[in-house]
Amino acid sequence: MKAMVYRGPYRVRVEEKPRPRLEHPNDAIVRVTLAAICGSDLHLYHGLMPDTRVGHTFGHEFIGVVDEVGSSVQNLQVGDRVMVPFNIFCGSCFFCARGLYSNCHNVNPNATAVGGIYGYSHTTGGYDGGQAEFVRVPFADVGPTKIPDWMSDEDAVLLTDATPTGYFGAQLGDIVEGDVVIVFGAGPVGLVAAKSAWLMGAGRVIVVDHMDFRLEKARTWAQAETYNFTEYDDIVVHMKAITDNLGADVAIDAVGAEADGNFLQHVTSAKLKLQGGSPVALNWAIDSVRKGANISVIGAYGPLFSAVKFGDAMNKGLTLRMNQCPVKRQWPRLFEHVRNGYLRPSELVTHRVPLDDIAEGYHVMSAKLDGCIKPLVVPSAA
Ligand SMILES: NC(=O)c1ccc[n+]([C@@H]2O[C@H](COP(=O)([O-])OP(=O)(O)OC[C@H]3O[C@@H](n4cnc5c(N)ncnc54)[C@H](O)[C@@H]3O)[C@@H](O)[C@H]2O)c1
Ligand SMILES: [Zn+2]
Ligand SMILES: [Zn+2]
Repeated sequence: MKAMVYRGPYRVRVEEKPRPRLEHPNDAIVRVTLAAICGSDLHLYHGLMPDTRVGHTFGHEFIGVVDEVGSSVQNLQVGDRVMVPFNIFCGSCFFCARGLYSNCHNVNPNATAVGGIYGYSHTTGGYDGGQAEFVRVPFADVGPTKIPDWMSDEDAVLLTDATPTGYFGAQLGDIVEGDVVIVFGAGPVGLVAAKSAWLMGAGRVIVVDHMDFRLEKARTWAQAETYNFTEYDDIVVHMKAITDNLGADVAIDAVGAEADGNFLQHVTSAKLKLQGGSPVALNWAIDSVRKGANISVIGAYGPLFSAVKFGDAMNKGLTLRMNQCPVKRQWPRLFEHVRNGYLRPSELVTHRVPLDDIAEGYHVMSAKLDGCIKPLVVPSAA
């Protein structure tokens, strides 16, 4: 089969790989019909994620058709159209029992922090991902769900990560009626977080980024008030100024490890790898909120420490909440929101890239060329 493979930083290509086989009675093999490239894939593509091995296939956002099922699979049948959450999880361990699907204890022997993720390096279990014609889906009775008839493929694929993660970001902010919410980052995740903040009762939603075309999407799609941080000497001072000099009630970091906006942080993270990511957006979040506020972190950071303004967070009495999104936990409510039209994730799609052109797709998403917000990947066999 054809699959995207990693060759080294900034180098990916399509190669012929053996078709995955059932390895366990609860596995399924899914023929991928649509996948996506996530902002998280860029951390791998840029060579920032430890233990990203040459030959690894990325892709943790995908939908497809069940092609084969193991002998113990009961919930799926060959031919079912399925959406697969980016988390691989067992559904029965201590953590899964508490809904912490992204922290499952049975799927990633390499780590005690993160669980299993498709196509996301050996740090998250080494599972090959869905930017391919076929993918092996472990715990097939637990993760995937049949796509409802009324749901489009493009909405479904965005419900495997970007949409639930943005929604989760707003949830972690514990928004109460009337809150002022600042979202840092206007990528797919930040855009959904902004939209979700309204659904949770926010009184004012502000989005900060430095890409004007993405800020425009934040205004037109998420009805947010927007600011380009390059237009201000100090974006934090401006955030304070527009929030009665007190600061916002909630801030959401939807940027993560590769934040721009501070040269020193960039050099010590991306270049020298002295920290697990540049916490510029997180520090702006900490500084832009009022005392006693909530900070939600869904932007991804690597395993090492980062130079976070922890003392300020402590002395302001902030509540910081964070995680990889437990995608399946968000599905029941999100299915309702998509069906009733409050959320149309497919409206974020800007590019549809054939799997054969995956290298171009990564380049466009990485450099944010051509108005790129969310690129989908279309396998040729689909
Ligand atoms: N927690 C999870 O489960 C989860 C799931 C998906 C993605 N993520 C992470 O969420 C983050 C966003 O994902 P995405 O797909 O939207 O990525 P993306 O790359 O499309 O968007 C990131 C945006 O942040 C902007 N940005 C850069 N520096 C900034 C700064 N200092 N302040 C404000 N904005 C800044 C960029 O211009 C860009 O528009 C990534 O770190 C990704 O790894 C986490
Ligand atoms: Zn992702
Ligand atoms: Zn588990």
